[in-house]
Amino acid sequence: MVITAELDLERVPSHIACVMDGNGRWAQSRGLPRTEGHRAGEEALFDVVEGALDIGVEWLTVYAFSTENWRRPAAEVRFLLEFNEDILLRRRDELHERGVRIRFVGRRDRRVPKRLLGLMDDATELTRHNRRMTFTIAFNYGGRAEIVDAVRAVVDAGISADRITESTIARRLYDPEMPEPDLMIRTSGEFRTSNFLLWELAYSELYFTDTAWPDFRRGDLYEAIRAYQERERRFGRVSANGAFKASTTNGDG
Ligand code: IPE
Ligand code: IPE
Ligand code: MG
Repeated sequence: MVITAELDLERVPSHIACVMDGNGRWAQSRGLPRTEGHRAGEEALFDVVEGALDIGVEWLTVYAFSTENWRRPAAEVRFLLEFNEDILLRRRDELHERGVRIRFVGRRDRRVPKRLLGLMDDATELTRHNRRMTFTIAFNYGGRAEIVDAVRAVVDAGISADRITESTIARRLYDPEMPEPDLMIRTSGEFRTSNFLLWELAYSELYFTDTAWPDFRRGDLYEAIRAYQERERRFGRVSANGAFKASTTNGDG
């Protein structure tokens, strides 16, 4: 397992996005109901948050509930809604004390309970001035829905077709301030994005691990970052003796 000493702390990705996957299988392999896997995922999440804070990650974004997850059995959906409320209530103060700014991305549609929306707003408001790290929770989030919503906003603004550029869209994503992820991690052996950050992941480095989310800890995060630091990010260019190696911007501008 990688310890921080093996990481180049000058080249820590500034934005890491995680698809926290494999909770259900983790539980089922232990003869437990799937919901116990979600419960066990909380410890993983907060260990990763602490690990990210310790090495100066500025943005951490996690996929908590997708626009497709409504297709799950009603009891599991209900559990996830209540569990997310519960986590927000129990954990927001400690996140606030750590200097974490909490934000949410996703659709605020009628399926999301008002109480949960209220808790999201409270956590956002409580932590809005924090600057140590921005912790974004993707809830009722879909990458396609996000792009559709951005396009609707462009149309609503009356912008003509010939004036639309990439930044016209980017400025209307759920959080226009969120930088593109440098690194996307998915646990539990699935090699897909499942509609996570479709626009934003265009040039992110992707890292996949067989470890199920409930077993994932900061050491696994550091292992992913170590792998990231071996990558050469070219952004379409030709290799320049590794000059773009795991740099955190695309060098434009
Ligand atoms: C990820 O774990 C958590 C959510 C999607 C909410 P899963 O529940 O997808 O677990 P698996 O992939 O079925 O094992
Ligand atoms: C993606 O995982 C969504 C979250 C982790 C919240 P899923 O488990 O829903 O994705 P699929 O269905 O395996 O693609
Ligand atoms: Mg899954």
